[in-house]
Amino acid sequence: MQSVSKIVAEFAARPWMAVPETDLGPAAQVPTMLTPEERLFYHWLGRRVQGEGATVDLGAYAGGSAARLLSGLAISGRRFHVHSYDRFRSSRALWARFMPDEPLPDADDADLLPVVRRHLAPWQKHVTLHVGDIGEKQWTGGPIEILSVDAAKGAVLADHIAEQFFPALVPGRSILVQQDYLMSVQPWLCAQMVRLRDGFLPLAHVPKVGLIFLAVAPVTEAALTAAKVGDLTDGKLMSRVREAAAWHDGMVPRAPFKAMLEQIKAHPGVRLGWQMRQARAPG
Ligand SMILES: C[S@@+](CC[C@H](N)C(=O)[O-])C[C@H]1O[C@@H](n2cnc3c(N)ncnc32)[C@H](O)[C@@H]1O
Repeated sequence: MQSVSKIVAEFAARPWMAVPETDLGPAAQVPTMLTPEERLFYHWLGRRVQGEGATVDLGAYAGGSAARLLSGLAISGRRFHVHSYDRFRSSRALWARFMPDEPLPDADDADLLPVVRRHLAPWQKHVTLHVGDIGEKQWTGGPIEILSVDAAKGAVLADHIAEQFFPALVPGRSILVQQDYLMSVQPWLCAQMVRLRDGFLPLAHVPKVGLIFLAVAPVTEAALTAAKVGDLTDGKLMSRVREAAAWHDGMVPRAPFKAMLEQIKAHPGVRLGWQMRQARAPG
């Protein structure tokens, strides 16, 4: 196993930036919400995987993150399997924005599964699609090498994801991608991770808003209880966001944490990202 200091140095050098997009093969064509840097990062992360446990993709949408993980995993020289979780439904607006070349469905809540299956066809033997609410899913698939969280759009769901998936991460080896970590409307992510700081070492900020962690210690039931964010008061949530800002000082600018504090103040008691996005009602 690589030493922690080697892994830290490896990520600090940001080697994914040197990956030519042509290395991604058919994955480069799969529609995605990922930023250009994230696209290269996911491929590189799959390629450098250190063991033969599962890769878990929480929040797949059209399969963009899964495809880029798979294109890397396929050349890693290891056995691999990606578990992608989503409701696999799309609004017409998102469909038109991210898949302009696909025929637009007649109504919202359109089925994404046929499109996703087509997008992931080059790796079909290496993918399982888990359809439905992640909040109702349980992980029983053994060790996880790479966990990408792009679906923790609410505080209760963030607790559930941590409870189900974090204990399967292998200390010293597994990588956790918190895709939305610096989003102003998801302040529960940093509030959760700062209480799990004994188990995770921040490795890199991948713009726009992703933070990458190395698992360094087992995530225990006691740690998960202490890290819960679903029932925090606004005051406690804010104080955890401030703790997280201090924790990440030097790796992440302060501005995203400031924006999170402003969102909490503007939306008291709100713990769902889409509700925080909405303008505050007058009065
Ligand atoms: C930002 S998108 C994912 C983007 C994707 N990773 C990519 O590469 O384009 C977030 C996804 O999370 C899914 N999601 C959010 N909450 C969910 C839940 N409770 N259960 C299942 N899927 C959920 C949404 O359906 C959506 O497709």
